[in-house]
Amino acid sequence: MCGIVGYIGNRQAYPILIKGLRRLEYRGYDSAGVALLNGALNVYKKKGKVNDLVNFIGDKNIKGNLGIGHTRWATHGAPDDINAHPHFSGSERLVIIHNGIIENYATIKSWLETKGHTFTSETDTEVLICLIEQIQKEGDLPIEDAVRIALTKVVGAYAIVVIDRLDPNKMVAARKSSPLVVGIGEEEFFVASDATPIVEYTNQVVYLDDNEIAIVSRENGLKVVNIQNEEVKIPIVHEIDMKIEAIEKGGYEYFMHKEIYEQPKTIDDCMRGRLSVQEGWARLGGLAQYKNKICNADRIIIVACGTSWHAGLIAEYLIEDLARIPVEVEYASEFRYRNPIISERDVVLAISQSGETADTLAALELAKKMGALTYGICNVVGSSIARATDAGSYIHAGPEIGVASTKAFTGQVTLLSLMALVLANERGTISSTQYQEYITELGQIPEKVNKALTSSDDEIRIISEKMKNADNALYLGRGYNFPVALEGALKLKEISYIHAEGYPAAEMKHGPIALIDENMPVVVIATNPSAHEKIMSNVQEVKARKGVVIAVVNEGDSEMKKIADYIIEIPSTLEPFTPLISVIPMQLLSYHIAVMRGCNVDQPRNLAKSVTVE
Ligand code: AGP
Ligand code: GLU
Repeated sequence: MCGIVGYIGNRQAYPILIKGLRRLEYRGYDSAGVALLNGALNVYKKKGKVNDLVNFIGDKNIKGNLGIGHTRWATHGAPDDINAHPHFSGSERLVIIHNGIIENYATIKSWLETKGHTFTSETDTEVLICLIEQIQKEGDLPIEDAVRIALTKVVGAYAIVVIDRLDPNKMVAARKSSPLVVGIGEEEFFVASDATPIVEYTNQVVYLDDNEIAIVSRENGLKVVNIQNEEVKIPIVHEIDMKIEAIEKGGYEYFMHKEIYEQPKTIDDCMRGRLSVQEGWARLGGLAQYKNKICNADRIIIVACGTSWHAGLIAEYLIEDLARIPVEVEYASEFRYRNPIISERDVVLAISQSGETADTLAALELAKKMGALTYGICNVVGSSIARATDAGSYIHAGPEIGVASTKAFTGQVTLLSLMALVLANERGTISSTQYQEYITELGQIPEKVNKALTSSDDEIRIISEKMKNADNALYLGRGYNFPVALEGALKLKEISYIHAEGYPAAEMKHGPIALIDENMPVVVIATNPSAHEKIMSNVQEVKARKGVVIAVVNEGDSEMKKIADYIIEIPSTLEPFTPLISVIPMQLLSYHIAVMRGCNVDQPRNLAKSVTVE
């Protein structure tokens, strides 16, 4: 994972790098560091957050209008000062920042040791910069050639930026399977893992492709070559449309809180131009060209990880229920390694907020190789998955910075609801009356989400007080709300560190019921009408064992009030759209509990926002 940023131009690099690192901190926060070139090559790095780095730097020399910065999510070596990036080469002539993993680093390291190299850190990154130095020294090469040749010997994933102290007007960046954006300003260039550190300086960006190397120099501007040293026509310059407010907290204490409250708007944004309640239609531009193929697919296979996988599970209910196309939902990491059967008659949907998740990307590549049509559902515009798929739709949720995904999830589910509706209408598996009912109801969802946010917040704070000291929690749901139970449990685990399990309510009696006693909070999501009676029985089973029941119900559900310990009421909707409303209290509950436990909600321990390593 890791965030990387680089600057070359006429301004002082340090403030740009630090501001950029703060924006990229969601990608990793084990340590942070910068390298600045001003005749001397100064490297400062520190375990912990960007603030720890800034305190450590104090009044040290931060001059230089060429520099690079890194915020780390450790893969090789402990998260400490020594393993922090940037890393020097042995002679301290070169310096590197790296996002990714060099898989064959051990072999390269042994070879370098025979050449007399010694290493100070445990990282794979230091091995790479020493390899670059060795190649540069042997061939007396300019830095860009040494980087390129070194990369031909490397197996793995990387986005790197390298500076050579003896070539002070140049920065060399390269990527394979990890994102890298080059920002083009007036006599200045930026490189970064995503556009957030760049947006206030320029909106002109170029996305590097795999196996491309960008040479950014004061004299010659931007040049891109591939790993075979063939010049690549500068890829299209994109205009990024990202507002600064979108990447700032805007008065909220945490990004996650802001993002939860943005959902009425982000859901609306996701449906803009895709749903007209007045005219009674739903459409998806990305689908248009392949509608026939998708309608007649043997199967839709969904690959994703984490929260996006939960959105995929909801899509299975939606697409099978409404459009009657068989759907399989796979963890991308399992799918890619289990020799799956995929044919040209399958459609593979990759769902990913970041569009950079390594396992999802690899699953997609596999599906492509086997001839399936691939479709991406991403949030980050221009991301690797968005570019690698045959077709796709963006969810338009805006930058999601809190590590725990919230508005991206509801964006994904909204998009998948639209997709199910479009396919169902096309295949004639729902009547035109049903189609119109669904359209009208989807149009109401932003307002209902808004109501769920405002009406349930106070009650959820009270419940959070009660739940905050629990060691374990169980989340139960049936049908459309089963994936919501999984998502609720994941949210709680990741930001409050309380162990939680999501289960289909009926499965409880096949095992987890043994865990229930008076100390076990059981969150029951009971808003889908078709499962109501059954889930009432499950609640009775929990109560009979003295479990504490927190029930999420539709407004006016008087039956549940009689037996549950706590009730969270939310607006009702049509069954297929229940997850869009019922996930709101899940998000608020985990948020408040985490805040009450003093956890860093936006940057939970050990996690990073985009998982660009396997
Ligand atoms: C969500 O809260 C998690 N932090 C995580 O599970 C995430 O959903 C997963 O890593 C997938 O990310 P993606 O959507 O960017 O591919
Ligand atoms: N492998 C490098 C390290 O451990 C970079 C890690 C990453 O990109 O997450 O320092």
